Amino acid sequence: MSDHISIIEMGPRDGLQNEKTLVSVEARIAFVETLVAAGLTTVEVGAFVSPKAIPQMASSDQVLRGISHVKGAEFHVLVPNEKGYDAARAAGAKVVSVFAAASEGFSRANINCSIADSIERFKPVLARARDDGVKVRGYVSCVLGCPFDGEIKPKAVADLAKILWDLGCYEISLGDTIGVGTPLKAKQMLRAVAGEVPADKLAMHFHDTYGQALANLYAGMEEGVRVIDGAAGGLGGCPYAPGATGNVATEDVVYMLEGMGIRTGVDMEKLLAATNEVAGLLGRPPVSRVASALNAKKRRTTS
Ligand code: HMG
Ligand code: MG
Repeated sequence: MSDHISIIEMGPRDGLQNEKTLVSVEARIAFVETLVAAGLTTVEVGAFVSPKAIPQMASSDQVLRGISHVKGAEFHVLVPNEKGYDAARAAGAKVVSVFAAASEGFSRANINCSIADSIERFKPVLARARDDGVKVRGYVSCVLGCPFDGEIKPKAVADLAKILWDLGCYEISLGDTIGVGTPLKAKQMLRAVAGEVPADKLAMHFHDTYGQALANLYAGMEEGVRVIDGAAGGLGGCPYAPGATGNVATEDVVYMLEGMGIRTGVDMEKLLAATNEVAGLLGRPPVSRVASALNAKKRRTTS
């Protein structure tokens, strides 16, 4: 079992991209600042995608510029193509993420092209990033099931992960986009991928639709995976993944890891403050179990 785990915070990007409420640039900047103050030093803060497709991520350039004063943290943004890369670079991005899918159905729905065409779009991004000294993270979506194509074979995930790795991505984040996985399936998928990309260069990006995300993460840690994507408050979802709910909640991950004696560097009180802050903006309480428990405890002790 790994003794060190890195957490990549998804709240400002995956967390907000599917919300009905559009959160202002100022509030998105404040959310990032609060997350970093809580000890989450790698944060995905926006996406340079079509604002017609994802209006919630419009003005990601202003968010990125607005957090340029925040030191000691690494900020990631999604880019689907060279147009996105140009805009991200102009706003000062130093780490970008390309995102592919292991299923044709999701690839078409999400980025309007086949898997093969998406790779062709990423090639110039990766080549330019190499020249510019920009790090590129690669996502593979639908690693444990697709809302359109159903079951996804581990080999399809492994083959695509290898392509992204060979193109120069420094880390491959494996997305259970619709949160349908269970631990044994997660292990089988991760073993197949680890045959192509070193396990310590993989990340787990598990949505929690069926409440299996923590169990799947634990199973993945047993396979040697050391990076976990989470979102404060369990926010998240994708407009092109019908029925999916949020990412695994960062506070649930932190609670589990700290309980296992794995130091995360995250201050739970401050993370709870970030979660409650964004819940207030969205007008509903956080869905995460740990945030609900801690908020209830606070109410008991103050009443
Ligand atoms: P397209 O229609 O194939 O692209 O869209 P196009 O080149 O034909 O351009 C169409 C229009 O989009 C044009 O504008 C372009 O200028 C514009 P129009 O002439 O109609 O006004 N455009 C752009 N605008 C801003 N930034 C860009 C850009 N590129 C083109 N980079 C595209 C392709 C990818 C752009 C589109 O399908 C899109 O934006 N899709 C949204 C994808 C997305 O953000 N999905 C959610 C994130 S992925 C996710 O959540 C999964 C993940 O969390 C992992 C997991 O959970 O599995 C990462
Ligand atoms: Mg996601």
